[in-house]
Amino acid sequence: MTENFCYPLYAEPYRPQYHFTPPAGFMNDPAGLVYWNGWQLYYQYNPFNMTAGYPSWGHAFSSDLLHWQNLPIAIPTGPDGQIFTGSAIVDTENTSGFFSGTGLVAIFTLSKPQKEVQDIAYSMNGGVTFTKYERNPVLDLDYPNCRDPKVFWHAPTGRWVMAVALPQARQILFLASYDLKEWRHLSHFGPVGIEACEWECPNLLEVPVEGSNEKKWVLLVGINPGAPLGGSINIYFVGTFDGTSFQSEDATVRLMDFGKDYYAVQTFNSAPQDEAVAVGWASNWQYTQVVPTFPWRSAFSIPRILTLRKSASDTGTLLVQKPISLESLRDKTLFEGPALLGTDPLSISLQGNASFEFLTTLVVQADRDKTQSRLTIDILNAASEKVTIGYDWAMGRIFVHRGEALGFRHPSFLPYFEATCADTGSSLQLHVLVDHSMLEVFVNDGLHVCTAVFFLRDGALTEMSWRAEHGSVRAADLQVYTLKSTWK
Ligand code: FRU
Repeated sequence: MTENFCYPLYAEPYRPQYHFTPPAGFMNDPAGLVYWNGWQLYYQYNPFNMTAGYPSWGHAFSSDLLHWQNLPIAIPTGPDGQIFTGSAIVDTENTSGFFSGTGLVAIFTLSKPQKEVQDIAYSMNGGVTFTKYERNPVLDLDYPNCRDPKVFWHAPTGRWVMAVALPQARQILFLASYDLKEWRHLSHFGPVGIEACEWECPNLLEVPVEGSNEKKWVLLVGINPGAPLGGSINIYFVGTFDGTSFQSEDATVRLMDFGKDYYAVQTFNSAPQDEAVAVGWASNWQYTQVVPTFPWRSAFSIPRILTLRKSASDTGTLLVQKPISLESLRDKTLFEGPALLGTDPLSISLQGNASFEFLTTLVVQADRDKTQSRLTIDILNAASEKVTIGYDWAMGRIFVHRGEALGFRHPSFLPYFEATCADTGSSLQLHVLVDHSMLEVFVNDGLHVCTAVFFLRDGALTEMSWRAEHGSVRAADLQVYTLKSTWK
């Protein structure tokens, strides 16, 4: 597809319809997610160009995490340095002294040619605009690289905690403050794990363990460059945080996603039910500045609720990600009920909708050697370009193939992703979100996730084709729904 000025905004080819994208320009990290009178979403934004540069804090607001209202730039990049990633907090007790009641404070990296320091700014109008603290920076360690402060309230010690990255050292520093202005060093975590990378965009939070009243601390870290599949990806560690230091349960580095397009993940501060709601940037630094979208580049993942699950097959505690409910967006029902899948394809027309979701539990039938079954779901356009999701019972692997979508070629735009699902027996649970150029695959109730963007050359998606080889598979309660645009 070629650039085309004829489309109305939010109706261009490739434009996701229920995911957040900026109106125009280039977006990267979520940078300041906070609930205050609604969901406030700040993000790294270059409104002038479709490539990275001069990042400001873009801003959008939502009351349901699905319908977003674009707002003016909240913190513009200025002559003193570039406004990089950070976080936002609700200062309910006015610990900062900026307010007469409650107010919003942003904490972010000011990136200058010789060093990166941490600044704060406060908002007197509900987060629409911010005033920089006149005695910035609040943290200057005199390092050329030190960035992406994530600040949150640590109730047991009654103070603010900051996690900030030292990218080349592959360390996360922890600091504490009573007023957001004076910061005291507490401890550091790392280096650990994959060596050929830098650490960025930390996020430390408590996450509930499924089926218990327990919570554990989770440290999310962005690694770039040098992710196992190239470029950027998020890793996580599960452990304890006593208000001073973070200890990981084990030294295993676990990936949040088995695709290539889930980075700089951040969770909302002050979520109403204290739930852990995460949003990631659905792209990769290796190709994000050349993907064929116009006049915007990059989308955010669907917001996801995080929980922890004790692994049945591994000694560790694993992160689980489930998309927020999209039921309110469901429009047409394209399929509902059981389906027996064999070599004859089951075809489901998308009836002109390239934004949809489907859910099912797939159960291998005992008609052949059930360990050999292989299921494939092709999602195609009229020119037979496609993305494919499949599961191979012989290998115990889920796979996603985007190589037959022909609208974009790049050496780092890998076509194929896979993950071993040691937790799958004869049945596999799938929940898949498709949105024009976005694919999010949630396997076994969110235990394995693949986020992948894809670009068709010759028209939007038109149908799905399901089939099983080497033995049949029953799709129990298959549900396929089109989803309404949140931008119309
Ligand atoms: C991660 C990152 C951050 C930085 C921001 C700049 O994607 O490199 O470390 O703050 O992007 O836009």
